[in-house]
Amino acid sequence: ENTQLKDIVAHAKEYGFVFPSSEIYDGLAAVYDYGPNGVELKNNLKRLWWEAMTQLNPNVVGIDAAIFMHPLTWHASGHVAGFNDPLIDNLDSKKRYRADVLVEEKAAQYENNGEAERAQALLQHLGRLLTDNDLGGVKQLIIDEKITCPVSGTGNWTDVRQFNLMFSTQGSAVESDAAQIYLRPETAQGIFVNFLNVQKSARMKVPFGIAQIGKAFRNEIVARQFIFRMREFEQMEMQFFVRPGTEMEWYQQWKETRRRWHEALGLPAAKLRFHDHEKLAHYANAAVDIEFEFPFGFKEIEGIHSRTDFDLTQHQELSKKKQQYFDADVNPETGKPYGNYVPYVVETSVGADRLFLATLCNAYTEETLTEGEGEAQQTKQRTYLKLHPAVAPIKAAIFPLVRKDGLPEKAQQIFDELRHDFRIIMEERDAIGKRYTRQDLIGTPFCIAVDHQTLEDETVTVRHRDSREQTRMPIAELRQYIGQAVSF
Ligand code: GAP
Repeated sequence: ENTQLKDIVAHAKEYGFVFPSSEIYDGLAAVYDYGPNGVELKNNLKRLWWEAMTQLNPNVVGIDAAIFMHPLTWHASGHVAGFNDPLIDNLDSKKRYRADVLVEEKAAQYENNGEAERAQALLQHLGRLLTDNDLGGVKQLIIDEKITCPVSGTGNWTDVRQFNLMFSTQGSAVESDAAQIYLRPETAQGIFVNFLNVQKSARMKVPFGIAQIGKAFRNEIVARQFIFRMREFEQMEMQFFVRPGTEMEWYQQWKETRRRWHEALGLPAAKLRFHDHEKLAHYANAAVDIEFEFPFGFKEIEGIHSRTDFDLTQHQELSKKKQQYFDADVNPETGKPYGNYVPYVVETSVGADRLFLATLCNAYTEETLTEGEGEAQQTKQRTYLKLHPAVAPIKAAIFPLVRKDGLPEKAQQIFDELRHDFRIIMEERDAIGKRYTRQDLIGTPFCIAVDHQTLEDETVTVRHRDSREQTRMPIAELRQYIGQAVSF
């Protein structure tokens, strides 16, 4: 319960899950690299999401669109005009802050001091100013509330200005507006612009979905909480195209489906909750977050949004290409086909990195073990990752008990038999207890020990990560046993 984020960050680095980017140069804020165990865990999460979407739903197909898109895409989507954070600089410390976050932190202070009403009023005031895009008002609020710089302690602020979160680069030598290309801030637009390509080529009928996994980029100013808020991250998004008027049914359905998926993956129901958006984005008529209880509180891991026909209509206008679907099904009310329409969209959008962090936080377990009896009794600390076997980086580790008597050869034989089906490793070095500990730390669900008895009766000891129990099992049963445990 007392697990701190810093313990998890340290563990992630020490055991090859996540490293700060370009660390030898002191890193780059809010950018991270995945190590040997991290990439396996993340790939497992992505594969399970992909299968849940495209394999279990006959009416969802995948694409892999480019990161660069025609610049008009981002005019159509509203990102050029509206994907902004209000920033303010402190003139003494030269530090930059999100003005809204400074006010929110002040409100949190009021809340902690038992002044809940005052906190609420402040947040409402801020909300109104932001809706009206009244940046002068936001600055005045910071002055009136006597908000000082967390570093210098002074209230010497610049004006508040809007800062667009999109990264951009020059697409050609011509310095014109059109040559400015953006790194996509969401993968969704790659799906919207391909709506008709996919619908026609895959002969999809509404309702149907398009799924995609890919990188997205946002120039986040407040970079905190490890891989929770990154400047380069990965999204797993699915746009579900529906007949107008049916979107709320699909919205409810996907909301439940997605929550169940997180639970099936091992995130406990008690650590998940829905959070309805009070303030809707310009494109949505309903929106909810699935939040997970991180060590730093309940925070969003996935968004489910009813996006109406906003995006397709916008693309239709800017591209001058019809984004319509002909629905041949007969409307029982009119007795005629539904005909041409721009479909409505329900979106599910989960961050692969946030899901990774939630999975890691949930799995990280520190326990105190009591060993021995009476006088000899002693306590020991154990840290292990209680990962669902389906997402664990390594499914099984094979240990010859000693490095002689033909045990390494026997272990190698088992390894060769299983390596085609599972990601497994073999370890010969160190005492067996140490080898168990190393696997606990990276969440390997099974350790298979090969001993002298193995040579006689073709059985091995299987040690279970969570219970530390050991069971004897014929080698011939290992494949099925592990296979069952790692299936999802
Ligand atoms: N297409 C809709 C969309 O992009 P969003 O709520 O801005 O909606 C969806 O993002 C998900 O992407 C979030 O729930 C989160 O998991 C992930 N995400 C967004 N910004 C992120 C960031 N800076 N770092 C890591 N993950 C992020």
